[in-house]
Amino acid sequence: MIRLAHFSDVHLTARPMGWAGRDLLTKRVTGWFNLTSLGRGKRFQHAPTVADVLRRDLATRGYDHLVFSGDATMLGFESEMKLAAKVLGVGDLSLPSAIAVPGNHDVYVASAEKGRIFEAAFAPWQHGKRVGGADYPFATKIGNVWLIAVNSARSNANPIDASGRVGRPQLDRLRELTATLDAGPRVVVSHYPILEPSRKPEPWFHRLRDWDRVRDAAAACGVGLWLHGHRHGWYVLPAGADLPFPTVCVGSSTQSNRWGYHEYSIDGWHLKGRRRVYDPAAAAFTDADTFELKLAGEPRQS
Ligand SMILES: [Fe+2]
Ligand SMILES: [Fe+2]
Repeated sequence: MIRLAHFSDVHLTARPMGWAGRDLLTKRVTGWFNLTSLGRGKRFQHAPTVADVLRRDLATRGYDHLVFSGDATMLGFESEMKLAAKVLGVGDLSLPSAIAVPGNHDVYVASAEKGRIFEAAFAPWQHGKRVGGADYPFATKIGNVWLIAVNSARSNANPIDASGRVGRPQLDRLRELTATLDAGPRVVVSHYPILEPSRKPEPWFHRLRDWDRVRDAAAACGVGLWLHGHRHGWYVLPAGADLPFPTVCVGSSTQSNRWGYHEYSIDGWHLKGRRRVYDPAAAAFTDADTFELKLAGEPRQS
C-alpha cells in the first residue's frame, strides 16, 4: 500500500512581480486587473498562510509521495514561481519525494512557457523515466504504482482563453513510454480535467481542447486513474461509458472556503481517498469527506 497527498491550484503571488515593458502587450495586464479589481486577489488573500500550513502537513503526515497538479502562480512570473516553489518546500529534503506538472497560470504567457520557468523551479519534483529529451510525459514508480506526469497546460494569447492541450507529439510519447513500464496501476497527474462534474467537456475557453483524443489514448495506455486540478471545486467521477477510468479533481488547496487537499491510500487497484479541509479558526487542516474508487486496468485473474 502507498499513501499520497494531492494538492493543486495554490495560486501564490509575489511582490514585486517583476513587470517588464513587453508584459504590457500580454494577458498579464487583464490578469492583473482580475487579481486586483475583480476579486481574485481577495479569494486568495489567505493563500500564503494556508500554503504554510499545508507544507507542515506534507512534511509530517507520513506520505510516501506528493502530487501537485499545477497552477502554482497567478500570472506566471518567475518571481511568483520561485516563491511558490520555496513555500511548497520544493527541494526541501524533510518533505517526501513529489511529482509536479504545470497549470495554465504557470505558462500564462508564451515567454513563461518557452523559458521553462516552472520546470526550472520544480525540477526536484520532476524526476522520472522519459522518452528522449522531452520534458513530458515522465513516469516514476512509488511502491507498485506508476505515477505519470502529462502536461496539459499551454500559453494562450487571448485573455479569456484558459484552455489546455496535450497534443499529438506528447500522446505519441505517452504510448512509447507506457509500453516500457512494468506491471502496476498507472495514475496520470495532469492539470486539466477530462470532463466537468456534469460529465460533459468544460466550456471551450476552459477545457482540455483534445479531451476526447487524450481520454482514448490514456485508456489505450492502460491508465487507471486521472488526478487533476484546474477547476477550483473538488469532485470525483467514477468510470463510466464516457470515461474508461475514474478522475479526481482536488480543487484549489488555498482559495478561501474551497481550500483542501486529498490523501490517497492505494492498495492494489483499490483507492481510499480522504479530503482534508482548512479550518481558519484552528489554522489547520481537518478530516472531511471520504471516498473509494476502483482503478481501471486490473489484470484478470486466470
Ligand atoms: Fe487554478
Ligand atoms: Fe488552471
